[in-house]
Amino acid sequence: LRLGVLASGRGSNLQSIMDAAAAGKINAEVAVVISDQEGAFALERARKAGIPAVYVDRREFASKTDYEKAILEQLKKHGVALVCLAGYMKLVGSVLLEAYPNRVMNIHPALLPSFPGLHGQEQAWEYGVKFSGCTVHFVDDGMDTGPIILQAVVPVYDNDTADILAARILEQEHKIYPEAVGLFAEGRLKLNGRKVTIVK
Ligand code: GRF
Repeated sequence: LRLGVLASGRGSNLQSIMDAAAAGKINAEVAVVISDQEGAFALERARKAGIPAVYVDRREFASKTDYEKAILEQLKKHGVALVCLAGYMKLVGSVLLEAYPNRVMNIHPALLPSFPGLHGQEQAWEYGVKFSGCTVHFVDDGMDTGPIILQAVVPVYDNDTADILAARILEQEHKIYPEAVGLFAEGRLKLNGRKVTIVK
């Protein structure tokens, strides 16, 4: 399965997917990494792995539609079948969603539907929850609202800081994101309305 990863930042989730692919743990390969940030470390990680790394500058396009058409062109050019958002800091619009229906995944650093949007870890920390975690979900036209594929739970301890909690969550992100991609690659994710079930 050929993957296109969209990332705006450090790319540690991208790395976890590239590592799982390289180790043969998932039947998938990262075909292209696309970023809206020229200096994103995610692009550097791709280059180091010999994977095409493409910067697409939003400011070069008059509309979001045109911007996404440029991204879509790259995805098509590299034969991408599944799009993975990994710290991509823009909402995905109709061009990409219509080209990849139920074929765009995202990782969110909280237990959705709690704490969607930016800084899910800090939101949960500030709220005072006793457990948090992360969620891999299919992307729809809302903000972190699509069907949930996998979640992992972590405890929050009295001595934690927001940073410690974020690190504990990130460790789980790096496990469940490749796992979800692997399940998709094996054709084992069945979507029924909002419900995703895993076929044995
Ligand atoms: C992660 O916390 C992810 O859950 C969120 O953005 C962050 C990306 O981190 N969507 P990285 O760029 O993958 O290291």
